[in-house]
Amino acid sequence: MPRPPAVVRTLPSLRRAMETLRARRATVALVPTMGALHDGHLALVHQAKRHASKVVVSIFVNPTQFAPHEDFGSYPRTWKADLAKLTEARVDLVWNPGVSTMYPPGFASRILTEGPAQAGLEDRFRPHFFGGVTTVVGKLFAQCRPDVALFGQKDYQQLKVVTRMAADLDLGVKVIGVPIVRERDGLAMSSRNVYLSVEQRADAPTLYRTMKDAARRLRNGDDLGAVMADGARTIGDAGFDLDYFEARHAETLAPIRSTKDGPVRLLVAAKIGTTRLIDNIGV
Ligand code: PAF
Repeated sequence: MPRPPAVVRTLPSLRRAMETLRARRATVALVPTMGALHDGHLALVHQAKRHASKVVVSIFVNPTQFAPHEDFGSYPRTWKADLAKLTEARVDLVWNPGVSTMYPPGFASRILTEGPAQAGLEDRFRPHFFGGVTTVVGKLFAQCRPDVALFGQKDYQQLKVVTRMAADLDLGVKVIGVPIVRERDGLAMSSRNVYLSVEQRADAPTLYRTMKDAARRLRNGDDLGAVMADGARTIGDAGFDLDYFEARHAETLAPIRSTKDGPVRLLVAAKIGTTRLIDNIGV
């Protein structure tokens, strides 16, 4: 059994641990997570190892990216299992701050970005979300000063937002997107999949199947409006409460009228019961 990674919970101990890593001329990759780790997170760790000599994983369920009515309190917290997975994956350091370390009394700052963070999609349904993400990720970058940071493409808009922020603020970190890891039936891996009942879990892959079918039709030259309307209907008929099913420019996330308007990404968000799932696919 490999040795468990060092776990640090205070800023002085993080600083010391990072200095030790850096003293050995390491390049550092950061994998920011909220824990409840699954194979999608482990794919980030494996990619991280290809880009840097040391891998730091942060585990912090960030309250500022949840609205009061959302699942901050019930978000899965699986510390022991997470640490076992990170040990197995031979991660070097785990940064696991508490809320009062990240947001001490008097904390009064927020990083707000424009561009992809205001493109609609998630921003339309979770207006508080990206401000919370950019603030915490900005802090994680400042604390760990990684050379690279890895984010899953499942949160595609988040990936674009963080990439934009890192470039705009000259944070000196290269943001790398890692492809979605899926269950055998196509459902994108997510920490929130544990909320699904057996019936909901059986219906959940509809999102991926619908996107795949839409992407195939678009590649065959079908009309964009018709394809998207058919997809939205299929998702609704399967019992989902659809937030959006949209075709966007894959880089800027700008709305598009035709597949000629750019590399296209299809993005979906829908609730099944009380669980909100998101997914996306390239065309
Ligand atoms: O994708 C997530 O798990 C979170 O949004 C992140 C990037 C760790 C920030 O809290």
